[in-house]
Amino acid sequence: MSTSHVVSSRPPAREPEGVICRYTLGERVHHWLAALTYIYCLITGLAFWSPYMYWLATLVGGGPTARFWHPWFGLGFTLSIFWMYKMWIGDMRITDADRRWSKAMRYYVENQDEKLPPEGRFNYGQKLFFWLMFYGVILLVISGFGLWFVESIPWSLRWLRYTAVTVHVVAALATIAGFIIHVYMGTAMVRGGFTSIIRGEVTSTWAKTHHRLWYEQVTKGTSSQK
Ligand code: HEM
Repeated sequence: MSTSHVVSSRPPAREPEGVICRYTLGERVHHWLAALTYIYCLITGLAFWSPYMYWLATLVGGGPTARFWHPWFGLGFTLSIFWMYKMWIGDMRITDADRRWSKAMRYYVENQDEKLPPEGRFNYGQKLFFWLMFYGVILLVISGFGLWFVESIPWSLRWLRYTAVTVHVVAALATIAGFIIHVYMGTAMVRGGFTSIIRGEVTSTWAKTHHRLWYEQVTKGTSSQK
């Protein structure tokens, strides 16, 4: 990706190595817009889904307020995902490197990263998450319109109402599963990942360890899309 580059090859005060830009400011802003709008939809959607979780609506101003804003935040989330698509599509296509990496995925789970084949800017799991969210939001927004304007669907077409509810719930649950894994991986599993989506930078060692082909691409100008 052309937006990634070595920010500084001079050793900073406490770093014995170079620092590499992993996420530009624009990428970080879009990421956190997606996170904010998604979390709002998650809290309010769970509140509507089950009476046991209705109390969640009180966190965001109560039931009627949540019902009003949920579809609008859903549209915001959809736009932010399409923006992400535009930003990252070049890095998110599944490559041969990903296929090799997916076969060795157990080393990733066992935390033996040194045995994994080298990866590009994003690894196979990150790309799967991206595509899950991308196709998930398409299903959510289409079925969401059905629920938003449910009274304009005539009762003779009630199967359409039932389909909208089912698709909305199934797509939401799939994205929630992906979201939980994503947050866990990004905050607890891969040290340095969270700082990168806040400050934008990673160390050369981090880049070499987790995304060697990307590291080579940004430091030596070789292609990571093998
Ligand atoms: C509180 C919520 C979230 C946290 C803590 C979080 C954390 C992170 C972290 C740490 C990274 C950098 C990973 C790396 O470069 O190694 C990242 C990247 C990313 N995030 Fe999130 N994120 C959150 C919500 C979301 C949401 C709602 C989406 C929806 C699409 C999302 C999509 C992505 C994508 C596509 C990437 C780049 C590839 C990847 O690392 O999976 N994130 N996030």
